[in-house]
Amino acid sequence: MAELADAQDLGSCGLWAVRVRVPPPALGVNMRILAVGDIIGKPGRKALKHVLKEYRDSVDLVIVNVENSAGGFGITKKVYEELKSMGVDLMTSGNHIWDKKEVYEFIDSVPDLLRPANYPQGVPGRGYGVFEKKGVKFALINLMGRSFLDSNLENPFATFDRIYQEVSQETPIIIVDFHAETTSEKWAFGIYVDGRASLVYGTHTHVPTADQVILKGGTGYITDVGMSGCWYSVIGMKPSAVIERFTKGIPQKYEVEEKEDLVFNGILVEIDELSGKTLRIERLQQYIKKDQLAEVMV
Ligand code: FE2
Repeated sequence: MAELADAQDLGSCGLWAVRVRVPPPALGVNMRILAVGDIIGKPGRKALKHVLKEYRDSVDLVIVNVENSAGGFGITKKVYEELKSMGVDLMTSGNHIWDKKEVYEFIDSVPDLLRPANYPQGVPGRGYGVFEKKGVKFALINLMGRSFLDSNLENPFATFDRIYQEVSQETPIIIVDFHAETTSEKWAFGIYVDGRASLVYGTHTHVPTADQVILKGGTGYITDVGMSGCWYSVIGMKPSAVIERFTKGIPQKYEVEEKEDLVFNGILVEIDELSGKTLRIERLQQYIKKDQLAEVMV
């Protein structure tokens, strides 16, 4: 379980937030992974860079969901390169992957950026791959849920079955970013693949859940990792337009909140390299004051 440490005064709002902070994984033969959920625009990238300063060297693999990393919607080539320069190994995404039209031009040339694998055949990009880091092979699969999200996609349970047949021939380490709206679809998927996937972590809702667990078959699971961005926001966006939308019903243009202090959300996971089972899964949450960021401004 995560270690609870230093309750932190977040300033004028009068709120005391708990900083859920865990030490870097111990050195060993297990694969150590930092998996990060939705990065919201520049504040999310700043928070990520801040945390990677401490954790990059103590993990083997950094996976980040980048579908909101460029201005809150989609990803550009420039942001992709910025994230790579921070030490991000692999990127996943979801329904917002197509928001910046330039992604159509470069996604096929960057195999370390995935879009959900259950898009129909012929859609640009790829949804999974077998990769190697420090001599260890592993598979990363990006899937998207259908409940309240996109019913045009293939059933992600069936997509997983098909991909599993292929990648399990090559490695026991199989990691899934399940980008979905509903907690029930995520839990159902987790139990469906328990014992086959090494790790299933949810993204998309931007709100972290506290249900990190190792399932009966050895699959590490959490319903949602949560977002990184400005914490005093509506899931990363300026509250005013969202409140206007809810109070008046009129469509609004949403903009990333950039003026507030930050929150980082991720998970630290250790996977046994021989069996592919998860040995440890813990939440990593840090609230970061803007004045802590001077040296890592991006
Ligand atoms: Fe999403």
